[in-house]
Amino acid sequence: MATNRAIQISKHGGTEVLELNRIPVPTPGPGQVLIKTAYAGVNYIDTYYRTGLYPIALPFNLGSEGAGTVESVGVGVTKFKSGDHVVHMATGSYADFLAVPEKSVAHVPNDLPLDQAAAILIQGLTALTMLRESYEVKRGDTILVHAAAGGTGLILVQLAKALGAMVIATASSQEKLDIAKAHGADYLVNYSHGEEQWVKEVLGHTKDGQGVEAVYDGVGKTTFEGDLKVLRKKGSLVSFGNASGAVDPFKINRLGDKNLKLLRPRLFGYIGKDCSPLPAPRIPKPISSLANDRSMQQDTQEVFDYYCGELFKYVKAGQVKINIHKVYSLEDIAQAQKDLEGRGTTGKLLIKL
Ligand SMILES: NC(=O)c1ccc[n+]([C@@H]2O[C@H](COP(=O)([O-])OP(=O)(O)OC[C@H]3O[C@@H](n4cnc5c(N)ncnc54)[C@H](OP(=O)(O)O)[C@@H]3O)[C@@H](O)[C@H]2O)c1
Repeated sequence: MATNRAIQISKHGGTEVLELNRIPVPTPGPGQVLIKTAYAGVNYIDTYYRTGLYPIALPFNLGSEGAGTVESVGVGVTKFKSGDHVVHMATGSYADFLAVPEKSVAHVPNDLPLDQAAAILIQGLTALTMLRESYEVKRGDTILVHAAAGGTGLILVQLAKALGAMVIATASSQEKLDIAKAHGADYLVNYSHGEEQWVKEVLGHTKDGQGVEAVYDGVGKTTFEGDLKVLRKKGSLVSFGNASGAVDPFKINRLGDKNLKLLRPRLFGYIGKDCSPLPAPRIPKPISSLANDRSMQQDTQEVFDYYCGELFKYVKAGQVKINIHKVYSLEDIAQAQKDLEGRGTTGKLLIKL
């Protein structure tokens, strides 16, 4: 039986629990596409699965996205053929080969290299869906993006600028702030000098000190309280990650002080990530209406295609530049996760298969 390399965990813990194992090369089932991985993206969510912050059944194949070439397709797959360049959002992507439901696969534009495609997918789709659906940014809004030099942060900054917002960017060092500035951030705040200081500086960059329309926060625990202070009345707090730890329990009544909205979105709630091989339900709607149609079924090929197409358009137009921090080998997965968690990275980390 043909085998391939894959990163698995059989218990939770630090990077020492990461195992490089050989597993059978999957055979694509009905509706599935077998992909030979070229690059897999390293994402914070993989570290949450590893530590147990996000519950999973063990053993577990790590990795959440990748780009590569179609090796073969299962019964009923019509959109993809052997040799196509594709991206996918599916669990187990830290592996040479992966069978992925067709609805979680999208074509890569001809002129986009596979490393760039892998580097933009999850973080880019997260940024795009949040700016469209969590709090829809409007021209003239002033928004705050935390960890703005990170993978998701840099894309949030660029997309928000493309959508006409003023962007206040935070990061923990001047070097990182300079990178955020080079990607379009209007105001820079080093949030490592304590909450009182960064809150004051952020408010100082808003009209009459009234606060921002929205905060996009992937840092979590350490910034949440300050976020409530820098939001203007009726503002929106989009809390989408836990880089510093999970946000502490919170009394909902506190939102009433300024009639704030609080969201805790996950990308997979906007773009379904169902790994079942069942074909996606048909949506009798034109593609252009999908993003704003509240009645649409999210877990579909059409939605994934729609958002991938939008994202690739921003890249092609030069409005979103893709930043690859470093490319690691599969053997170096522990180092890649340590680097991401260690706060020393900017932009995207990739594994080359
Ligand atoms: N909800 C979703 O669907 C979704 C999807 C994708 C990503 N995310 C979330 O988005 C966040 C960013 O992910 P990413 O992959 O783009 O990572 P990243 O931003 O490249 O890296 C995380 C950054 O968080 C900042 N940070 C602040 N406090 C930290 C701490 N105590 N430990 C480590 N880092 C800290 C660091 O920047 P500074 O040094 O500048 O502080 C660090 O570089 C994560 O929370 C992730 O879970 C959520």
